[in-house]
Order: sequence, then C-alpha cells, then structure tokens
Amino acid sequence: MTLDDARAADAADPLRGFRERFVLPDGVIYLDGNSLGALPAVTAARVARTVADEWGRGLIRSWNDADWLGAPQRIGALIAPLLGAAEDEVIVADSTSANLFKLLAAAIRATGRSTILTEPGNFPTDLHVAQGVAALLPGVSVRAAPADELAAALDGDTAVLLLSHVHYRSGARHDMAALSAAARAAGALSLWDVSHSVGAVPLDLVRDGADLAVGCGYKFLNGGPGAPAFLFVRRALQPTLASPITGWMGHKRPFAFEDDYAAGEGMTRFLAGTPPILGMAALEEGVRILREVDMAAVAAKSAALFDLFAARVAALAPELRLVSPTQARARGSHIAFAHPHAHEIVQALIADGVIGDFRAPDVLRFGLTPLYLGHEDVWRATDILGRIMAGGSWRDPRFAVRARVT
Ligand SMILES: Cc1ncc(COP(=O)(O)O)c(C=O)c1O
Repeated sequence: MTLDDARAADAADPLRGFRERFVLPDGVIYLDGNSLGALPAVTAARVARTVADEWGRGLIRSWNDADWLGAPQRIGALIAPLLGAAEDEVIVADSTSANLFKLLAAAIRATGRSTILTEPGNFPTDLHVAQGVAALLPGVSVRAAPADELAAALDGDTAVLLLSHVHYRSGARHDMAALSAAARAAGALSLWDVSHSVGAVPLDLVRDGADLAVGCGYKFLNGGPGAPAFLFVRRALQPTLASPITGWMGHKRPFAFEDDYAAGEGMTRFLAGTPPILGMAALEEGVRILREVDMAAVAAKSAALFDLFAARVAALAPELRLVSPTQARARGSHIAFAHPHAHEIVQALIADGVIGDFRAPDVLRFGLTPLYLGHEDVWRATDILGRIMAGGSWRDPRFAVRARVT
C-alpha cells in the first residue's frame, strides 16, 4: 500500500463520517483509544447542561425530572446491544474492579464452590480482586492456568472461570463460546472482563453462553476518564445471585428507608450507592455514538488498520516483534509489539505526536479505533516509528525517564 492507497481507502471508508464527531488535537495521531477513548464532540455540552441546568437549576428535583435515578438502567440498556445482551441484563455502576468483586463473591456463594480459575498475566485488577475475594472467604483460592490448559483445569471445585475476553497486552481474544460451554459443563459460571472488547469487536454474550461480564466505560465506549463501568448477568441467573455490597441503591425499595436489606429486582441488586451523574452523562454520549455504528464495519476496518500497521512495521522497523495474533478473529482492536526498549520508543513517539502506550516490561501497544482513526494516520504513525528506529532518536536519555502513568 502507498500513501495514495491509504488515502483512497479512507475516502471509501463507510465510517469516515464519525471522525468529526470527536475532538482530536492537531498534530497528534492518537493510538491510545483502547486505554482512554477520545472526547466525543457533544460531550462537553452535555456535561455542561447536566451541571448548569440539571444540577444548577433543577437541584435535587433532577433525580426525578432529569431521570438521574434511572441512569444506571437507562445507560445499561443502551450498552446492552453492544454486548449482545437484553436491556434488562446490563446495568451501569461503580468501577470494573468493584463490579468484579461483586460478581466473583456472588458466583462463589451461588455455586458453593471454592476456586476462582483464571490465567496468569490477566489484567492485574482481575487477579488482585480475585485474590482479595479469596482472602475474605474461608476456603476460597485462586488458581491460574495457561490459556490452552484452562478447559482441562475446570473441575468440581471451580466456582467461576474469570477471563479477559481480549487481553490488555497482546490483544489476544479467547473463544468465549467454547470456554463458557466448558465452564458450564463443569458446573461453574463464566465471568468475562470485556473492557477491551466492548465497542471494539462484535460481542454476543447471550449467544456465546457467557454467564457474567464486566467492562470499562472509558475505553472504546469513549465515556471519559474514570467513566462508570457496567455489569452483565444472564437473566436466568439474576435471582440466584446476591451482591456482597448490599448498599441502599440495590435495595428493593430504597426510598422506603427500611432497616433490613432486601435485594432489588433483576440487575438493580448490583447497584451499591448513589450513581455519579456527571460521569454517567459523559458515558451516555459516548455509548450513543457507538449505537449508531455497524460493528461489522468497525471490525472490518480494525482488521484493515491492523494489517497495514503490521506490514509497515515489518518493513520499516523489523526489530519490533509482533505479539498480537495475526488472525483478525483471534484478537481485539489493538496491535502490540515487543522490544527491550519499548518504553523509550513509546516516549520518542509521543514526543513526535504519536500517542501509543508502553506496558511493562517490554510491550509497545497501539489502539486501533476505527471511528476516529484512518489508514493515513497509520501510514504516518508507522513512518514516524520507522524514522525513530532507523535514526535511534529513542536513545535520548530523556526518554528513559518513567512517568507515573506510562
Ligand atoms: C481488562 C481490564 N479490566 C479492568 C481495567 C480497569 O479497571 P478499573 O476501571 O476498575 O480501573 C482495565 C484497565 O485498563 C482493563 O484493561
């Protein structure tokens, strides 16, 4: 592909109109939308309205008048089709970490079993929350098995199989249908972290037999920094699961102010406290954009951007080793390479206006967000990467300095 070919591909791109729906700074090629999605153009005005009109003028009346109270269910219903779930199977609440805690504890109590099965190298919060749940519940332990040994590791003690659908580092995607079926056959529940999948790849949780899922609002959903997260519980399971955080918002009648807890209906029981309305407003705008999109077109463009990126790096910077799967259906929507000086190279790229990220110890990671990234962006970014590698500018000592978030 030449630069002209890249431009022609962008001109023919059915998603090209979405780029102007985002605020992107001049002089930057943003390849980190898998970590923090870009700002939708409508979001600033929506948040300003929520602050000035709903909070400023409506005051406490807005819990009803602006349906603040209904935001967790309303935005959950908006996200549901992106997950392949029914509207009453998804709710927005808390962080992904907190939701993992709720669903892991609920799964252990519901099954009466003692093991959380996961894989080594899963996203740290998934592992750490599992370890915290195990420390809290007598007799419970965490077991980690490599991806190809997971099915065999499921046994009569397994309460829940906890996996990230798309791996945060490599981008490798698990076979959700096969592993959910294996968990079910062993009498265990499956809990999928879809943080790197939702809005990135087509999902069908119900068809694929997933029991439980959690995910972030601030990545491909473009909900803003620290956006609220979501949970999914297969409808038939909802009455059988109890949240360990029995806050008043998950109560059957929160405004009856009763002394004793009674779990709310359906997904409501997975709420804990008062929803963060400003974050909810920003998330709603991000999700609305995704709802306009054909996910098959997103997947096709993601695959094309990946192939272009991989081919250009193979030609211009062969010392970077591709660590993402080459088959499109075996991965998410980012591309990752390994290099012993990944940190310095990423810093050099950022200094040249190409924002990707570094994942310790040696991975360079680039998010491919088809809504606001084109073939020409990939062409230019890889051009700059090639120059940095050929010229050795990454060796500048200032690029070795580690920031708090790298
Ligand atoms: C797979 C996965 N799960 C969870 C998180 C973060 O969870 P939280 O929003 O609770 O910080 C991330 C963040 O990158 C992630 O990649």
